[in-house]
Amino acid sequence: MVQLVAERVQSLAVGGVKELPEQFIRPAHERPENSKAVEGVTVPVISLSQPHEVVVQEVAKACEEWGFFLLTDHGISPALVRRLQEVGEVFFGLRQEEKEAYANDAASGKFEGYGTRMTKNHDEKVEWIDYFFHFMAPPSKVNHGVWPKNPPAYREVTEEYNKEMLRITDTLLELLSEGLGLEGKALKTVLGGEEIEVEMKINFYPPCPQPQLALGVEPHTDMSALTLLVPNDVPGLQVSKDGNWFAVNYLPNALFIHVGDQLEVLSNGKYKSVLHRSLVNKERTRMSWAVFVVPPQETTIGPLAKLVDDQNPAKYSTKTFADYRYRKFNKLPQ
Ligand code: OGA
Ligand code: NI
Repeated sequence: MVQLVAERVQSLAVGGVKELPEQFIRPAHERPENSKAVEGVTVPVISLSQPHEVVVQEVAKACEEWGFFLLTDHGISPALVRRLQEVGEVFFGLRQEEKEAYANDAASGKFEGYGTRMTKNHDEKVEWIDYFFHFMAPPSKVNHGVWPKNPPAYREVTEEYNKEMLRITDTLLELLSEGLGLEGKALKTVLGGEEIEVEMKINFYPPCPQPQLALGVEPHTDMSALTLLVPNDVPGLQVSKDGNWFAVNYLPNALFIHVGDQLEVLSNGKYKSVLHRSLVNKERTRMSWAVFVVPPQETTIGPLAKLVDDQNPAKYSTKTFADYRYRKFNKLPQ
């Protein structure tokens, strides 16, 4: 059997490649140089320290208009975020052989671990990124055996960060429920309650020799209910609104909150799953820690009954999350 060994983007970059290999060169209309972000407009920034009613209203508005906002005063200690970033940086700084011990193998269903997308056919373009993916919650889904063992603090730091992600998820789902005129527990309950799943994806974008021709992540919406992301200080994330791209500036200590597909469906389109992409940098490595909050696979997700009536018919079909994922991965209609 032929074992396909992924060529890591980091290895290409470390090797000092001067010209972007052709599988990374985007078609002209997708290139950052031909689809520039609108200047002078900034994304919503929402402080959790405001009165509850104000936060409910601001979060609902941001999720209706953008599907995206920056959350501040969330109570996560900057020192914890710094430690999370440090253990991720140390992992990606390990020798290549050591990282390869964690290689994922999507073909055999092993999605957790160290990964790089490979082209399936000659025309397909790939992104300038390596990543590390694993579950953080619930405990029954977590396999510590696939988490980085080096640096040794990885597990402790990540478990502490996970607690904060669960806390902020509860807060956000409560605010978003109230924004829909529902009782605070409504969204968490339909997303699986305490079985709600939390996934960590560390995105690693090495310096790119021709960043104007490449993308770190191509335009997509997240399949999650919510995505809570922290980047390092290298900008690159862009979000789309009304057909235009907007750059998201780095804001220290803010959480970058994305509405994902499941919340768009549950809210029957009131909240928008944000289309986003990331650009890469010529000199510096960009990293981001994306936390995806998803329902368990067999959870049935559709527009909430309370939001649907004769005047407001369901705009989305109802199906299990597993079915949704299968269709999205295989580019089938939902
Ligand atoms: C993702 C993503 C953007 C970023 O991981 O789904 O969109 O800023 N990442 O790294
Ligand atoms: Ni995304």
